[in-house]
Amino acid sequence: MRVLVTGGAGFIGSNFIRLLLRERPGWEIVNFDLLTYAGNLDNLAEVASSPRYAFVRGDIADGGALEGVLGGAEFDAVVNFAAESHVDRSIEEPAPFLRTNVVGTQMLLEVARREGMPRFLQVSTDEVYGSLGPEGRFVEDDPLRPNSPYAASKASADLICRAYEKTYGYPSIITRSSNNYGPYQFPEKLIPLMINNALADKELPVYGDGANVRDWIHVEDNCRGVLAALERGEPGRVYNMGGGAEWRNIDLVKLLLRLLGKPESLIGFVGDRPGHDRRYALDSSRAREELDWRPLVDFEEGLRATVEWYRGNRAWCESILSGEYQQYYRRMYGGR
Ligand code: NAD
Ligand code: TYD
Repeated sequence: MRVLVTGGAGFIGSNFIRLLLRERPGWEIVNFDLLTYAGNLDNLAEVASSPRYAFVRGDIADGGALEGVLGGAEFDAVVNFAAESHVDRSIEEPAPFLRTNVVGTQMLLEVARREGMPRFLQVSTDEVYGSLGPEGRFVEDDPLRPNSPYAASKASADLICRAYEKTYGYPSIITRSSNNYGPYQFPEKLIPLMINNALADKELPVYGDGANVRDWIHVEDNCRGVLAALERGEPGRVYNMGGGAEWRNIDLVKLLLRLLGKPESLIGFVGDRPGHDRRYALDSSRAREELDWRPLVDFEEGLRATVEWYRGNRAWCESILSGEYQQYYRRMYGGR
């Protein structure tokens, strides 16, 4: 198998590439990534010299660049992780989200279709379904009711995938996972942000009342799910992949503080995120039954290992925390 992985220098994509190189010995991987603020080749340092891995810098919204990689080359599949991925940044400035997540996905589909790419996997999110009340879980046939510009751009990408199947007979496999955590996650997202702040004895900024619920999945479980869908999924079908670990943000932050041996007095409640989705939870029965997939990592064990990873990889963190991130943090959280 020869696979084009887009967005492979980001959090989930880099974990996915490591998984493929480790568990699929005959496979070759080309990583196509624009290296935005969230892309980091250090995430792949340990595999960079593998003869089965190559990196190409490029933009999925740039048809010419995609032709340059895919044109005439023998690939068996594309897995599209490339995206602008952070809800708060999408609230600050939606335009890059529409460009990469919507136009970029369409361009990638178009070039893949023209090149006769046998399989196309679109990595989507539970956020396309919108927000849940206290009960129930999303199933794949639920309506798409996205609430943030990020979620709307990902829902749009899913709909473009649908249109390519219905219009051109070019189907994609779509995976929708819940919130990922684990090593190499950019520290603007909840778990690594809180770990880094706690390690520096800085305030832990909890939005609103802290009672919003997320369904956490270890990145390794999501990557195994994406691989299962790539190998065994039915083109044109959507697969939810949830971790089944629902936590209120405030309880999760308190657990992190316990794991880090830091006091709860570091918690600070800050203004709520506009349009903040209250609760996400996924019903993953389809992936269990049809792909024989299930999450394997226990949440508290996975979180403990993640805390240890961030503790043990300070140079990786510091190189991010010292760059553009500082300006972002000041814009988002003011002088806190
Ligand atoms: P990330 O922000 O860590 O990585 C995104 C990667 O895409 C970066 O390497 C970036 O350089 C690259 N990229 C951005 N724009 C690009 C473009 N125009 N062309 C090529 N590359 C580009 O994101 P992540 O958390 O690893 O998420 C990966 C995918 O999984 C995204 O599609 C996201 O929507 C989806 N997802 C993420 C989560 C989560 O909890 N992180 C949950 C569900 C779904
Ligand atoms: P995040 O990691 O941004 O993921 P998403 O918005 O895609 O679910 O946020 C997870 C939850 O944590 C969400 O309810 C918002 C909340 N949150 C905070 O309370 N404080 C923060 O500083 C951040 C980044 C998130």
